[in-house]
Amino acid sequence: MKLTLVTASLLLGLASTSSVNAASIYAGQAKAAAVCSQCHGIKNPSAEAPFPPLAGRDADYLKTALKQYRDKTRQSDIMNAIAGSLSDDDISNVATYYARLKP
Ligand code: HEC
Repeated sequence: MKLTLVTASLLLGLASTSSVNAASIYAGQAKAAAVCSQCHGIKNPSAEAPFPPLAGRDADYLKTALKQYRDKTRQSDIMNAIAGSLSDDDISNVATYYARLKP
């Protein structure tokens, strides 16, 4: 009986953390599909394209790069324009999404 309660509360705890995560991954996925995938692809950019792959990269690296493009401490005409319209949440969601993908 005690064990069942412990298990139930563990499961509930897990369910609630993973639903927060799932929401941000879902939002990141939508952004990636609508915007980023046009150049970066989802798993891989197209072979000849000069676009760096994002899938499976470190989430913190991706977040830092996007913030640098947004505040223009990292220069790229394309990425400065794209990152300029991303909120902190967008950056965090899309970085979380790409980082969790297997390349
Ligand atoms: C129109 C094409 C295009 C789109 C759309 C685009 N990117 Fe990029 N992205 C580029 C190019 C080109 C570079 C390389 C820029 C450079 O030299 O710094 C780049 C670089 C990056 C980098 C740096 C990678 C590294 O290895 O340092 C990240 C992170 C990134 N993009 C994320 C995104 C995200 C997230 C989105 C969607 C919100 C997005 N990009 C949409 C063209 C694009």
